[in-house]
Amino acid sequence: MMQESIAALAAEITTADLSSTTHLDAFRISYLGRKGRLADLFDQLKIVPADQKRAVGQQLNALKQDAQARFDAAQQAVEATADNTPANPDFDYTLPPVPNALGTRHPLMLVREEMLRIFGRIGFAVAEGPEIEDDWHNFTALNFPENHPARDMQDTFFLEAGNGKRESGGEGKTEDGENQSPRSPLTAPHFLLRTHTSTVQVRMMETEPLPIRRVMPGRVFRNEAISARAHMMFHQVEGIFIDEGVSFADLKQTVYYFVQELFGADINIRFRPSFFPFTEPSAEIDITCLICKGAGCNICKYSGWVEIGGCGMVDPAVLENAKIDPEKYSGYAWGMGIERIAMLKYQIKDLRLFTENDMRFLRQFEAL
Ligand code: DAH
Repeated sequence: MMQESIAALAAEITTADLSSTTHLDAFRISYLGRKGRLADLFDQLKIVPADQKRAVGQQLNALKQDAQARFDAAQQAVEATADNTPANPDFDYTLPPVPNALGTRHPLMLVREEMLRIFGRIGFAVAEGPEIEDDWHNFTALNFPENHPARDMQDTFFLEAGNGKRESGGEGKTEDGENQSPRSPLTAPHFLLRTHTSTVQVRMMETEPLPIRRVMPGRVFRNEAISARAHMMFHQVEGIFIDEGVSFADLKQTVYYFVQELFGADINIRFRPSFFPFTEPSAEIDITCLICKGAGCNICKYSGWVEIGGCGMVDPAVLENAKIDPEKYSGYAWGMGIERIAMLKYQIKDLRLFTENDMRFLRQFEAL
């Protein structure tokens, strides 16, 4: 059996076409590679009866050396003839040059820039915050009490504490309640990948002088199964305005302005009552589905409307957490998904395209 297989393979190897790099590659993969036919036969050595093992092994080794020698010789020959250097008299100087490959901007970055430009025109300056956050900025300061079900909708990736345990309690304590000396900033309690850019609102309220008028773009993370509509990583543009006498009417005007600048004056917008722990009242911002123009499709779940973000009046409890007097100041905030807006703008039906790095997809944005 084994002898026959070796003889058959030897015949194939001696007659193989090795006249081009393509043929060479195919030969290398099917005969010499780790999963190639020779390796296969070497694997089968273990079932050869003990008294024949030595002879069969020698035959196989000889065949392997022969195959490698043929390959090396053919490779040299092919390389020698593929000479395109200027010294080669056959080189055709009239061929058009290979153009320098220029990169393109990613569609999400194009949309992000456009969103920031629009908000910039009405006075919102850009701020950024860290992607690795603590529980306070992601949840507690934003009025998500511990164990509140609203935290469940934003499950995320928690970072292990320095001792390999997941932290679960008060300042500097481990699960066992022992005092812990932080070895790096990441060993402090409750570090996680932020689930939203609302974290940066809190950072602004804690550090910026009033009034605050900021847009805050960034990447956020959630523990989600990846599909055409959901991903474990996406982008948001957050905004906040805090001053004396700010009202919901101001919020609506800002959103109208933004949406009309981005999508044109005849777009329909609606505010749908909703809930966020950090705003009161809260609303979801819906616009006409641009994929089906409102007729109904799988992207808008056949409603004709798509949600582009959430918004509301900053909850007095959130202001208090940041030591801002809610009797004197009020403000509005919003958070919008960049992917969602890019999908509507460029008619993209699958969220996964943004992260797959398929050049055919990315090159379409070359001219933008
Ligand atoms: N952080 C919310 C989310 O990711 C979105 C959001 C809603 C942000 C309302 C806000 C807001 O600033 O006011 O689902």
